[in-house]
Amino acid sequence: MNICIIGAGYVGLTTAAVLAELGHEVHCIDHDEWKIRLLNNGEVPFYEPGLEELIAKNDNYLTFSGRWDDIKRAAVVVICVGTPPRPDGGTDLRYIEAVLDRLATTIKSYKTIVTKSTVPPGTNEWMRAELIRKGVKPQLFRIVSNPEFLREGSAVYDMFHPDKIVVGLEPDDDQSLAVMQAVYAGINAPYLTTSLTGAELIKYAANAFLATKISFINEMARICDAFAVDVNDIARGIGLDPRIGPHFLRAGLGYGGSCFPKDIKALEHAARSRQVEPHLLKAVQTINATQLDVCFQKLNEQLAPLTDKKIAVLGISFKPNTDDTRFSPAEALIRRLSENGCTVAAYDPKATLSEPLTRVTQVQSVHEAIQGADGLVIATDWDEFRTLDWGQVKAAMNGTLVFDGRNCLDRHAVEQSGLRYMGVGRP
Ligand code: NAD
Ligand code: UGA
Repeated sequence: MNICIIGAGYVGLTTAAVLAELGHEVHCIDHDEWKIRLLNNGEVPFYEPGLEELIAKNDNYLTFSGRWDDIKRAAVVVICVGTPPRPDGGTDLRYIEAVLDRLATTIKSYKTIVTKSTVPPGTNEWMRAELIRKGVKPQLFRIVSNPEFLREGSAVYDMFHPDKIVVGLEPDDDQSLAVMQAVYAGINAPYLTTSLTGAELIKYAANAFLATKISFINEMARICDAFAVDVNDIARGIGLDPRIGPHFLRAGLGYGGSCFPKDIKALEHAARSRQVEPHLLKAVQTINATQLDVCFQKLNEQLAPLTDKKIAVLGISFKPNTDDTRFSPAEALIRRLSENGCTVAAYDPKATLSEPLTRVTQVQSVHEAIQGADGLVIATDWDEFRTLDWGQVKAAMNGTLVFDGRNCLDRHAVEQSGLRYMGVGRP
């Protein structure tokens, strides 16, 4: 099939590369000229494991440009533009609106328009009405809501191996499911069909539920600290119950990234717009918003006074295997340490600090970060940090405190080298 992807970000580029690998001819449009230039030079504008190789491998079936005319040849148009948060917690749909303006002037033959961006309930219905209002004939298009569930850091794998493909359809649309099955032919996953708005809400419910698990375990970590119990034991204990499951039960600095924070707020906003009070969603966000305070307080208790202390922070990205720092708890902690007078040496295998901070230096290795440090913080659970030689770490540091802000270390290995281990809910 001839497929046009709009938006060459984490979702758009991964979708483009995977669909090209599945045998489609894919054209990817982005209005960011810098991104298009990089892509046409064989480079990917961000770090995502395996993506650059997959794009290179499918070079013959994959093109990039800012030309909207290229939509004309496509049978399927997949919208993957950003849907950032507004200050009031609602969703800023300006990029979707800009796409609709362009589509309205370019659609001359039948298209299946697929929304992959995460959009609030009712948006796909509104998009359909907008296109018609802008003059596109209803018989020239169908809208399909096909939310994406990939995770950054494993985006390519996730797109090849989804646990389901959610397809939201217009009420009288009996042809677009077959189009979507042709788009994803070669991918083995159950299809779940629902209404346009049903698909939108499945996406929000999934992210909200995962965020709820994280806030639940972070609250349990606070209780564990008070009762001198290891929260990792609690997570293992409850995770063995198949009704609960072991995933997303790692306590730490809280959830971050470009999606959980914005999507939980957007769902809260959507609920309120229909006079539903979202009690649980509010609690989930309150726990997450205070999790960094709790962790910072623990550090402060061990190292006070913080002024002039040298802290090594390992991890800047919001999670491992990505260079994405959007709403990164690691970066928020670095900022907090800097505001409290600490000198910070921060290291990350891929990510770069998004802004310069007073007394904060980004260094090029763990070794450089830990020299003379009074304390060491694991802020992102990159594999590289789990397997450090703790004897060498002890020898390089000035102090002895290791704060495992992601509960990812073997505490005995750390303690055996003479260092003091402190986790989140691991007294
Ligand atoms: P991103 O910011 O990485 O990419 C969006 C791209 O769209 C940018 O390159 C931008 O230049 C481009 N763009 C914006 N407006 C445009 C326009 N009018 N014309 C052409 N290009 C335009 O965003 P992302 O992380 O890929 O997320 C995209 C959407 O997918 C969001 O709604 C997000 O919530 C959702 N989502 C993201 C993930 C993830 O892991 N990042 C996972 C699932 C769903
Ligand atoms: C998340 C979802 O997992 C994807 O399914 C979804 O498609 C995506 O959001 C989206 O809508 O954009 P992502 O944000 O890439 O994916 O990363 P996650 O692995 O979910 O981690 C999110 C945050 O939660 C990270 O800060 C991570 O450190 C934190 N986390 C995760 C925990 O604190 N504890 C855990 O047990 C798991």
